[in-house]
Formats: sequence, structure tokens, C-alpha cells
Amino acid sequence: MASHAIHIEGVTRRFGDTLAVDDLSLSVDVGEVFGFLGHNGAGKTTTVRLLNGVLAADSGQLHVLGLDPQTQGPQLRARTGVLTETPSLDERLTAIDNLTIYADLYGVAVQQVKQRVSTMLETFGLSERAQEKVGGYSKGMKQRLALARSFLHQPDVIFLDEPTSGLDPVAAQEVHEMIRHVSQDEGRTVFLCTHNLVEAQRLCHRVAVMEQGHLVAMGTPKELTHEVGTAVTYRLEVAQEQQAAALAVISRMPVLQDVEAGDEALTFASSERDSVPDLLNQLIAAGIRVYALTPQATSLEDIYLALHAREVNKGKVLGGVR
Ligand SMILES: Nc1ncnc2c1ncn2[C@@H]1O[C@H](COP(=O)(O)OP(=O)(O)OP(=O)(O)O)[C@@H](O)[C@H]1O
Ligand SMILES: [Mg+2]
Repeated sequence: MASHAIHIEGVTRRFGDTLAVDDLSLSVDVGEVFGFLGHNGAGKTTTVRLLNGVLAADSGQLHVLGLDPQTQGPQLRARTGVLTETPSLDERLTAIDNLTIYADLYGVAVQQVKQRVSTMLETFGLSERAQEKVGGYSKGMKQRLALARSFLHQPDVIFLDEPTSGLDPVAAQEVHEMIRHVSQDEGRTVFLCTHNLVEAQRLCHRVAVMEQGHLVAMGTPKELTHEVGTAVTYRLEVAQEQQAAALAVISRMPVLQDVEAGDEALTFASSERDSVPDLLNQLIAAGIRVYALTPQATSLEDIYLALHAREVNKGKVLGGVR
């Protein structure tokens, strides 16, 4: 367990009749950016709150950096940062004061506080308005300040619950760079709850997908592609005048689906790898000159939707929020 930054085993948490987290087990490695995905009400925020000791589990074990969030809260909070879903800032105070109070609270050495606060304000683009009361900040500015606060004491593990919600695309990109930097260059662990699948695909080494409290899949995006058996889309480039002939060859192979002819290439989907060399042989036999035959990356969005459809088919999940 020592090499795991986060370890959850058989954790269940109910709210009345609602099973918010159901027998959840997972581990996150040190330095990993771990994506936690799921529809509204899937149990993401509840899991973060359990990991931060804000909530107690009904059963099961949780450890962050080997510490129990329920009994070792203060030690844990000195080494973890959290951006909650609805961060509370003191709106009567300036950004500098908000961060300074936190730095004191989280044990940043007195002689370093000023420097850390100023670096974080700079990093999150708030230096120019750092002397203003936070009550007058825009939504995105408040979100940046809350992010600055979660990174302030250079925590080993950072929980980010929807970090880019409310940010403009440039600011979101900066947050992505920050996440990449703290993971790659500084070896910190990031637990990232997000609905933004592009964000997850860009940043996360592994992702877990939750559906109504259940973990339905976990792994690298590549592993999940295999698990859901999503068809891979291929792009075929042939000489312009041979497109129709190539289309005829493809159409004779029932295993190839979703065939489309574009201006520059033909695309089709196949869930059987062996169909690719078979097709190539047939194209060559038909005298068609092939310039390229390339698999397109399956997006995390395709995987996510396929997983959701699978759960709905199992009858486990309703279409939307319970
Ligand atoms: N304090 C609470 N009291 C009652 N029910 C709660 C409480 N917190 C969470 N729940 C319920 O637990 C379930 C999981 O909620 P949670 O906030 O963990 O979902 P989420 O995955 O973070 O969703 P979202 O994407 O909307 O943020 C939901 O059905 C929710 O209504
Ligand atoms: Mg949530």
C-alpha cells in the first residue's frame, strides 16, 4: 500500500435510501493523474468527501498517503489539497488575505508565506487584482483563487472536483498545464473529478467510470477501449479515381461498418482487427493503389458512452439522475 497515494477498499456510503457509493475499491499510484468520471449523481463528490474525511464511510477502508482520513485528518490535510465542488472563499477579504490565512492554517513556514502566496497569485493570473475584495470577483476569478488555494502548500495529493468548470478556454488550458506540471515534474498525485472527457483524455494516466455509486470500468483509455470492444474507425486513402472501386470492396465485407466516403478518404469501422489485413489483400487484388490505411484514436467520449449504454442495457441504470 505504501506506493499507493490513494487506496480505497470496499467502501460504501448511503444517504437514506440512496446508495451514493457502493462497495468501491480502487488505488491511485504516486504521481498519477487519475480521472474520476461519471454522470451527475454517480458518487464522485461523495468519494472525494470520504477521502478528505468530511464524510465517514458506512463500511470499508480508505487511506490517503497511508493515513486514515477519519482519524488522522490534521496530518492528512497538511499533505493534501482540495478544490471542492463549491469552494468557499471569504468574500469580505482580498485574494492575498484569503491565501495568507490558508497558508497559516496549512502550516506553510512563516518566512515562505509571502512568496508562496505571490507565486500562486501570479500562476493563476490574479496578481493585478490581488488587493481587491473577493466578493467583487467574477465566477472564473473565484475558481482560479480556489485552485491557487488548493496548490498553495505544495500538497503531495491534490483532489480537484471539476477544476475547469466556469473557466474560459485559455484559463482551462493553463489549469491543464498546471496539473501536468505538478504530476510530471514534481511527482504529485492528482485525483480529478471531471465531466470534461477531452480534459480527462489529455491529462489522465488512468480513469475510473462510476455509474450510480458503482465502479463500472477502470484503466487507461486504451484498456477501456478493449474492454468495451468499441469498433475502431479506419481511414483509407486511395487514388481519387479508384474510390468507387474501393468502396465496392469495402461494402462486400459485412464486418466493416459505418462506411463513409469523404472528399479525401473513405472511413469505416471494424471491431475485428483481422479484417484489416483481409481488406488490404482484397484491395490489392482488385488493383487498387492504397496510399494509407490508418486507425483513428477512439475518444474517451466514445468509450464513456459505450460504457453507459452497456450499463443501461444491463438494466442497472436509468437514463439520467436518479
Ligand atoms: N449530503 C447528502 N445528503 C443526501 N444525499 C446526498 C448527499 N450528498 C450526496 N448525496 C446523493 O448521493 C448521490 C451521489 O452524489 P455525488 O454528489 O457524490 O455525485 P457526483 O458524481 O459528484 O455528481 P455531479 O456530477 O452532479 O457533481 C446523489 O444521488 C446525491 O443526491
Ligand atoms: Mg459532484
